Amino acid sequence: MSSDKTATVEKQDSGGPVPRHVAIIMDGNGRWAEERHRPRLFGHRAGVDSVREIVECARTLGIDFLTLYAFSTENWNRPEGEVSGLMGLLKNYLQAELTTMLRNGVRLQCIGLLQSLPDDVLDILQRTIEETRACTGMTLNLALNYGGRSELLSAMKEIARQCQEGSLDWQSLTESTINDHLFTAGQPDPDFLIRTGGENRLSNFLLWQVSYAELYFTETKWPDFRKEQFLKAIESFSRRQRRFGKTGAQIATG
Ligand code: FPP
Repeated sequence: MSSDKTATVEKQDSGGPVPRHVAIIMDGNGRWAEERHRPRLFGHRAGVDSVREIVECARTLGIDFLTLYAFSTENWNRPEGEVSGLMGLLKNYLQAELTTMLRNGVRLQCIGLLQSLPDDVLDILQRTIEETRACTGMTLNLALNYGGRSELLSAMKEIARQCQEGSLDWQSLTESTINDHLFTAGQPDPDFLIRTGGENRLSNFLLWQVSYAELYFTETKWPDFRKEQFLKAIESFSRRQRRFGKTGAQIATG
């Protein structure tokens, strides 16, 4: 599905628009733990509490899609204990949250090369996706073993293959053709990208999809990023004027 670039929903309390799709780079868990002289996994564990709080807050605000960068293709290079600890946290989170997700109408989806995940994690992911398939409240989209460049490369290879075999004509290719071959096919593009932890970069996250997203960088490390900080970020989005190449006057007159 190509994105509806004006798709935002009215915020429940202040009347300003809230983004339809928020994507978050949850950074700073390791440093948060190191500041407390604790192992990095202690930070990731606290990060799961932030995940719970932000999912609930996003759902209450009426956000339709929340995409969380939980594990990148580059994260496999971390020490083995940290990688297996993260996989364990993910598995526990999914096991613990299923009832709440069903009660709150949260549908789970994933983007990334899931086949490389450990079998037990893949199994619970697939079961949760299946069991929450009919939920209509909010889509929680977990980016796992995800990398933006490899996603684009796979899409290009598949498009080239289809052109070669004749099911696609290269002269008819459009942006929608590319959208349809990404992991995010069928989802709207993010309107708002948040990165916690003080770094100002995209780190290979949704490179195609965030072309028109509003960006928000905060020094707050992910374990400290809770409801209050999320609402502050959403308020910042609500105050921005999205012009998509037009002038401010054109936007004001519709
Ligand atoms: C980045 O912090 C964070 C990650 C690589 C993992 C994020 C994972 C979680 C929050 C927990 C599991 C996820 C879910 C959805 C239950 P970092 O370790 O790079 O922090 P640093 O930059 O301070 O080292």
